[in-house]
Amino acid sequence: MNNQTSLLPLALRGLKDPSLFRQAALIDRNWTDAAVSVDVIDPASRSVLGTVPDLSAEQTQDAINAAERAFALWRKRPVSERAALVMRWHDLMMENADDLALILTAEQGKPLAEARGEIGYGASFVKWFAEEASRIEGHVIPAPAGDRQIVVMKDPVGVCAIVTPWNFPNAMIARKVAPALAAGCSVVIKPSELTPFSALALADLALRAGIPNGVINVVTGMPTQIGGALTASPVVRKLSFTGSTRVGSLLMAQCAPTVKRLSLELGGNAPFIVFEDADLDAAVVGVMASKFRNGGQTCVCANRIFVQAGIYDEFAAKLSAAVTALKVGPGLQEGVAIGPMINDAAIAKIKQHVDDAQSKGAKIVAQAPIPTSGQYAAPVVLTGVTPEMIVAQEETFGPVAPLFRFETEDEAITLANATPFGLAAYFYTESHRRAWRVGQMLEAGLVGLNTGNMAMAAAPFGGVKQSGLGREGARAGIEEYLEIKAFHMAGLD
Ligand code: SIN
Repeated sequence: MNNQTSLLPLALRGLKDPSLFRQAALIDRNWTDAAVSVDVIDPASRSVLGTVPDLSAEQTQDAINAAERAFALWRKRPVSERAALVMRWHDLMMENADDLALILTAEQGKPLAEARGEIGYGASFVKWFAEEASRIEGHVIPAPAGDRQIVVMKDPVGVCAIVTPWNFPNAMIARKVAPALAAGCSVVIKPSELTPFSALALADLALRAGIPNGVINVVTGMPTQIGGALTASPVVRKLSFTGSTRVGSLLMAQCAPTVKRLSLELGGNAPFIVFEDADLDAAVVGVMASKFRNGGQTCVCANRIFVQAGIYDEFAAKLSAAVTALKVGPGLQEGVAIGPMINDAAIAKIKQHVDDAQSKGAKIVAQAPIPTSGQYAAPVVLTGVTPEMIVAQEETFGPVAPLFRFETEDEAITLANATPFGLAAYFYTESHRRAWRVGQMLEAGLVGLNTGNMAMAAAPFGGVKQSGLGREGARAGIEEYLEIKAFHMAGLD
């Protein structure tokens, strides 16, 4: 162990490149401190992993100014150069994937194999948008009068505020920042104060890739003053946020006076419907993938599992067998499938949902064992769940699989849509007619037929109703960072 490694917290001693563990904010090219710092806790050990500066509103303004200066130059770089730099960033992410995964598991808790998956997932957005940069196209419209052409061109939006959550500390940044950079925008990233180290490592790699100073800035600390400065600034032309609907609508209100562009990826309450004609074993695999990814702490997790009456008991038994076999423990331990929850508040919410369901008649029919101490929530299967229970109305954000019983297809669709949210919805059936009917009727931005996983750069990701505005990934993802300009060229006769 060399000197640099021995100074690292225990969870990070395996880093091949310890300099990726940054404990400072990035403003322009400067790694920056503040008068006050925030502790970051390793959820597996509950010990302090490190600290980051709690930036002031003035320091946030410095980052906005740096992004504004950088934007003026970055937008003018030939698209081939921007694309090559973003692709180089992708390559460095993949070359440093083991270190990025270790940092992610240490600060967020998810199992190391899952963290490695997230690094690949995040990098796939960076690759996608590096390629998409060359396909930013406009068009020409013939004007009614013969002396004029209307050239529809795309301009970068400008300086963008990128506010990201703790559940995917790497991929949510990649999914927002890569299209912004490819479009010619500069960014000020505000990562969650619970998981800032993944963001800082990504920013370090961006500098190494040659992305110019000030194009990526990372402001760390508590959300109120930083968020206030970002949303109040007229220089910030867009805000992209992933997180709860409550905070999203608050940010929306804060952005109203300066009329910013918004992309909001907010809460969900995903239905997962299993019809009598489904392949039940495949449906169990689908629920396990959707419900238990990141310990149930994702916006697209199945939150309400609707099972048709004729197969309810058989499905509950099969799912119970799979859930009981889940290994819960520290994310760095071999074979662990479910890591610690992010904090005690998360555990209290999960307990409240399960207690409420039990008090109203639901039964725990399966439960995986958990370590005797630590920040863990037991994966459970609940049967006899009804719409009056809290689990039906709110995102649990934990490893709880509540099974609702339904009789008819119409009833399943009505129950599935009975929520103000509309991010993801899943259903399993072997009937192609039913597939088409149900797929059309589900109110969600993402609908999965016979799959529990829809996370990929190639598909547009985003919600309807109170689950948000805009789309990330795919062709749509870069349009969020582009303005349409109609350039009227008159006097051409
Ligand atoms: C989220 O939970 O916010 C994102 C999950 C995903 O990308 O699949």
